[in-house]
Amino acid sequence: MTHAAGAKPIGAEDETSAAQAVRHMFNSIAPRYDLLNHLLSANVDRLWWSRTARRFRATLVNPNAAVLDICCGTGDMTMALLKHRPPGARPILAADFARSMLSRGAQKFGGRGAVALEADALHLPLRSASLDLIVTAFGFRNLANYQAGLNEFHRVLKPGGQLGILDFSEPGGLLGKAYGIYFRRVLPAIGRLICGPVAGDKVGPYNYLPASVGSFPRPAAMLELMKAAGYESCAWQPYTFGIAGLYTAARPLVV
Ligand SMILES: C[S@@+](CC[C@H](N)C(=O)[O-])C[C@H]1O[C@@H](n2cnc3c(N)ncnc32)[C@H](O)[C@@H]1O
Repeated sequence: MTHAAGAKPIGAEDETSAAQAVRHMFNSIAPRYDLLNHLLSANVDRLWWSRTARRFRATLVNPNAAVLDICCGTGDMTMALLKHRPPGARPILAADFARSMLSRGAQKFGGRGAVALEADALHLPLRSASLDLIVTAFGFRNLANYQAGLNEFHRVLKPGGQLGILDFSEPGGLLGKAYGIYFRRVLPAIGRLICGPVAGDKVGPYNYLPASVGSFPRPAAMLELMKAAGYESCAWQPYTFGIAGLYTAARPLVV
């Protein structure tokens, strides 16, 4: 049997151990996650979250829209989505399977407009066809099985519901080469310096980051995966010369 594409941290032999390794890694780096993120991206991550939230403004301004931020981590994507919610709107569900990340997110929203939910993206504790919008920022790439993730999101989206997947990409050309050096050499070194060694992880989580981006499907392949999972209007919008980008798609109104 061939393995479906998904994250494969070093040492993980199957999807269960891959998911455990990812959860362990994020729980370990949670206290330093925000600092590292902003430092390593020179705060450009804030622009990416805002731009993603703006893309879904039409849905977010509807107070009854049911919205999920899956793999919410320490909650910055959720905070960007919240800026577009009207007073008294239905709370955004902010879900993650790493408790230490999620609890930091919960502190940020502090019960204002979002509720934290400890949940696995591949087995969401949500009714089928119950959501108007699912957004995930820099989380999808970490799923142990991308196809299973897309299928699960499709299950819980209402017909006509929207999906947004913000994640890293590898730009081409000269910029891609220069960025590759930063991403593969400089970034892991800074990460190790600030995070220190993580128990059970010989190479450090910031070696995992470039490796996971390198093995993530390229935009064309990702769009094919989305179509194969039954989505329509699948598109990819590069951000910042393609260092990151937003995949968008919808569950069709009629099957
Ligand atoms: C790189 S962080 C991104 C956090 C946040 N969305 C952001 O933009 O900063 C990835 C997050 O995905 C979560 N994650 C990975 N696989 C998951 C899964 N199967 N179910 C739920 N959360 C998952 C991790 O625990 C981690 O908090």
